[in-house]
Amino acid sequence: MKHRKKGEKPLNKTVMPLKSGLQGNITIPGDKSISHRAVLFASLAEGETKITGFLRGEDCLSTISCMKKLGVNITENDDEIIVNGKGLHGFTEPNEILNVGNSGTTIRLLSGVLSGQPFSSVLVGDDSIAKRPMGRVTGPLKMMDAKIDGRNVAEFTPLHIRGGQLKGIHYLSPVASAQVKSAILLAGLYAKGETKITEPHKSRDHTERMLESFGVRVEATTDSAAIHGGQALTATDIHVPGDISSAAFMLVAGAVVPGSEITLRNVGMNPTRTGIIDVLQAMGADLTIHNERYLGGEPSTDLTIRYSSLTGITISGELIPRLIDEIPAIAVLASQAEGTTIIRDAEELKVKETNRIDTVVHQLAQIGVSIEATEDGMVIHGKSDIHGGTVQSFHDHRIGMSMVLCGLISTDAVIVKDTEAIAVSYPSFFEDLQRLSGDK
Ligand code: S3P
Repeated sequence: MKHRKKGEKPLNKTVMPLKSGLQGNITIPGDKSISHRAVLFASLAEGETKITGFLRGEDCLSTISCMKKLGVNITENDDEIIVNGKGLHGFTEPNEILNVGNSGTTIRLLSGVLSGQPFSSVLVGDDSIAKRPMGRVTGPLKMMDAKIDGRNVAEFTPLHIRGGQLKGIHYLSPVASAQVKSAILLAGLYAKGETKITEPHKSRDHTERMLESFGVRVEATTDSAAIHGGQALTATDIHVPGDISSAAFMLVAGAVVPGSEITLRNVGMNPTRTGIIDVLQAMGADLTIHNERYLGGEPSTDLTIRYSSLTGITISGELIPRLIDEIPAIAVLASQAEGTTIIRDAEELKVKETNRIDTVVHQLAQIGVSIEATEDGMVIHGKSDIHGGTVQSFHDHRIGMSMVLCGLISTDAVIVKDTEAIAVSYPSFFEDLQRLSGDK
């Protein structure tokens, strides 16, 4: 949950139904997951790394702020971030608390790194972070010999980490989580021998790909990743592709607003993230993929989407980790498809920035969508007529953006509360939407 700073007004937005389709093109801003990793890994590397395409969203700025408190010199220019890496053993003990804000990726990945440092540090975040489970990382890190305290036996923040020499483990993770996998692999850099994690399904693999770019050997299979301790990272320039999770909101907008045809440039197409493309295609969306390219170990393309009729589908199993962040947007998409869409195996939604089964279902139901929560997902009956009303974002960026999409296709205005949270991952969301709606 992102909270307003003192004296800052809540940003409630009144979204009016569009009279004509979305048209034109936009460039999708940098990938949040990759931006975090670029700053963190560059800090761990020896030498200077230049990062282009970095997402200046609040979550990634939290990662920069924490790395600075660990003694890393980072220059923030408009078009690039320059990181003077400290090497694996060059961080200094922070003399203040490390605040991760709303960012689960920052706290979980940093916990792995701090477990290998011969000093003490304290990690906190906002009210949402305080409710999110940390035992999924602190548990395995403690098995590697890190000393970690926190509320409820290190299940919740604040976390106090005293790191040092670690031992390699083979961890069978009960969840497919790239944050857990990355924390363990990063701690593995400081461990004796091999550290390996096996997951129930493959989670996003940006850590494995980017560590390779920094010269670290990672052995990855379809459901595991392993690393040998003691490998140094060598600075390398990183280009961050656009975030498919941000593009997802525009893809859904293009698919559901009658008369739309839009092109999204610079969309990261890492196969561990493209579940939204599979869903759009399976529902019958009119989507063209063009200009495929490969930059810095990550594929990207341009996407054109046109309004079309859609059909409900079932989404479950290995597809879920490949689209977990897109489910709030997919729920809006499904509300405009003929027939029923069933989302299963998505319990992880309950531990995101909000409980996204509850927040998606209650807010969509509020404005006329026929939708029910289930234990592990939701069932959406289309095609629903969305009527106007007031909905909450619950300070969750992705809930806020999903509700804005509803306003574009409702019969009356939709008022979305507390939209300032959107800056966590997509600071230019409203500008981009305005550009596509011809209101420049
Ligand atoms: C992320 C991993 C996912 C995702 C989050 C970003 C990452 O979380 O939902 O937005 O950058 O590693 P989990 O690791 O909890 O699945």
